[in-house]
Amino acid sequence: MSFTIIEPAPARLNRSELAVPGSRPELFEKAAKSSVDVLFLDLEDAVAPDDKEKARRNIIQALNELDFGKKTVSVRINGLDTHYMYRDVVDVIEQGGDRLDLIMIPKVGTAADVYAVDMLVTQCEAAVKRKKRIGFELIIETALGMANVDAIAAASKRNESLHFGVADYAASTRARTTNIGGPNALYSVLTDKDDAGARAVHWGDMWHYAIARLVVAARAYGLRPIDGPFGDFSDPDGYKAQAYRAAVLGCEGKWAIHPSQVALANEVFSPSEAEVTKARRILEAMEQAKREGKGAVALDGRLIDIASIRQAEVLVRKAEQVKSA
Ligand code: COA
Ligand code: MG
Repeated sequence: MSFTIIEPAPARLNRSELAVPGSRPELFEKAAKSSVDVLFLDLEDAVAPDDKEKARRNIIQALNELDFGKKTVSVRINGLDTHYMYRDVVDVIEQGGDRLDLIMIPKVGTAADVYAVDMLVTQCEAAVKRKKRIGFELIIETALGMANVDAIAAASKRNESLHFGVADYAASTRARTTNIGGPNALYSVLTDKDDAGARAVHWGDMWHYAIARLVVAARAYGLRPIDGPFGDFSDPDGYKAQAYRAAVLGCEGKWAIHPSQVALANEVFSPSEAEVTKARRILEAMEQAKREGKGAVALDGRLIDIASIRQAEVLVRKAEQVKSA
């Protein structure tokens, strides 16, 4: 390890994260009773300008009155370029009681954006003598945010997670998309002709760079990398495919924009029975290797070494976290 030690964010399950528009309070209870890990009550883009104040009041009321159980509760505030954001923070913290866990900051562009919200949140918390410190979820969804992602990840001790906001990111980078968070057939490779003259089209993942970049920044600073929305909620197979490729790259969870996507995310981001069994066998084999003074051994015809212990430990810890949820 480096001599620089990074403190990891508080351990929280974040397999699924449900977006709930603040202007639709009839959905709040449904979200609170769902099997989602994190839900965010939205004041930003799911709420029309004329509804912003009403949505704020709805959210404050829910934070005071609704039973969210053991779920992590977040509020997505408006962007720093609006005139809504300061009052979102002030009113939600001053009037929302102690239940809120996280604030989600959209369209973060620079580390100073995080610093500015941190300053405001810190004052509000002190003014109401809040006991629980609010953490930050940061959405990386602009070219500027991605260009500054490392500094953003390191910008505040409140930071807990980085989220890939695919729709705004596409708008900002002028990427060509067909549906939110899905693939584009034009991002493909045409193979050379085979002996019979046939050519195959291999679809690629146009979001690969962005997600891989975000995962590295998040993990470097002890944060959870979370994949964003998949708009076509009538396509569970498409959702799972996008979720798996994010999971393979190191993401810990994915947004759900519809309740039907929650179970899909929980499934994809929970270690399977087989993976946990394998991880436990690796730990046992390495324990044995240690007793014999070896650093690397074979298990089922494959190399395992001390790095395998770290991977296996992460998996077993996650499985225990899921079990106690
Ligand atoms: N949270 C909680 N419950 C939700 C929900 C959500 N985000 N979205 C839908 N539901 C509920 C509906 O109220 C309905 O409940 P019912 O069976 O008791 O009537 C049930 O789930 C099925 O919903 P459905 O009728 O299929 O969807 P809809 O047409 O009401 O809404 C959307 C579809 C996409 C408009 C809605 O899911 C939504 O607003 N999602 C969040 C979008 C968002 O926040 N985007 C910003 C971040 S990307
Ligand atoms: Mg957005």
